[in-house]
Amino acid sequence: MKTTGNTILITGAGTGVGLEAAKQLSKNGNTIIMVARNAERLKIEADKLRNAHAIPCDLSNFEDLTRLVAKLKENHKDLNMIFLNAGIAANYNLFEEADAYKTSIAEMTTNYHSAVYLTQALESLLAEKDDAAMLITTSGVVFAPDLLHPTYSAAKAALHSYILSMRLVLERKKSSVKVFELMLPLVDSPFSSAVQSDLKISPEKAVNEIVSGLEKNEFEMHIGLTKDIYEVYLKSPQQALELVNNLTGEN
Ligand SMILES: NC(=O)c1ccc[n+]([C@@H]2O[C@H](COP(=O)([O-])OP(=O)(O)OC[C@H]3O[C@@H](n4cnc5c(N)ncnc54)[C@H](OP(=O)(O)O)[C@@H]3O)[C@@H](O)[C@H]2O)c1
Repeated sequence: MKTTGNTILITGAGTGVGLEAAKQLSKNGNTIIMVARNAERLKIEADKLRNAHAIPCDLSNFEDLTRLVAKLKENHKDLNMIFLNAGIAANYNLFEEADAYKTSIAEMTTNYHSAVYLTQALESLLAEKDDAAMLITTSGVVFAPDLLHPTYSAAKAALHSYILSMRLVLERKKSSVKVFELMLPLVDSPFSSAVQSDLKISPEKAVNEIVSGLEKNEFEMHIGLTKDIYEVYLKSPQQALELVNNLTGEN
């Protein structure tokens, strides 16, 4: 996949990995459409970049999603890449303080359903292009859940399963649209502030690996420590479960 000359929608572009991706990809000669809820922060960041547009949007809100797609179809017909990266996670112990049911609805809506909506709504626009891609951020927890993020892990596992389905369907219909899954390890961003660990990598390092994986058409990117989780998982899912939960401090 080429990494210059694209028009790229990046969700979750206000902070962390999404913001770093917007910075690097705008520098590399791509047009960037940045999405997040905090409109003021998004505009400040977009104004610092070349060829970047800010569209505030709450991906957990159906009306916002439909408005976003309408704006993209009207103003950004050259869109050829979508990088669905926005995510939320609640850190809690099951059967203790938090309401797992309500938490799981919020996590599924933002992390999973918004991706189903946007891929479905934008697939035909992308398929008109010779070189097109969907990039979706997941995590090492798709192979083994992190007990401190139980419902988040389940939402990312659902997303992983959906990505496998989409990739096979698009391959079978010989679509030009490539599907990339970016499995991130612990990254030093606001998202992981509740997790104490010296294993966090910087958003810059994560995005460097993503860009290099795109250039090599590495469709399932196991970034940083997620490579180790994947290799252990192939031998023993139980050992992978233990490994993930030692990494985040839970035994
Ligand atoms: N950091 C890690 O350790 C880690 C590990 C594995 C996977 N990941 C995944 O990596 C991705 C990026 O996370 P990050 O580390 O860069 O975290 P982050 O800095 O917290 O970024 C998340 C972004 O998503 C946006 N967002 C959240 N809910 C939204 C909604 N309903 N609608 C629109 N935008 C929304 C946030 O902006 P607003 O608040 O302005 O909306 C923010 O820009 C996530 O999918 C996460 O699950 C992270």
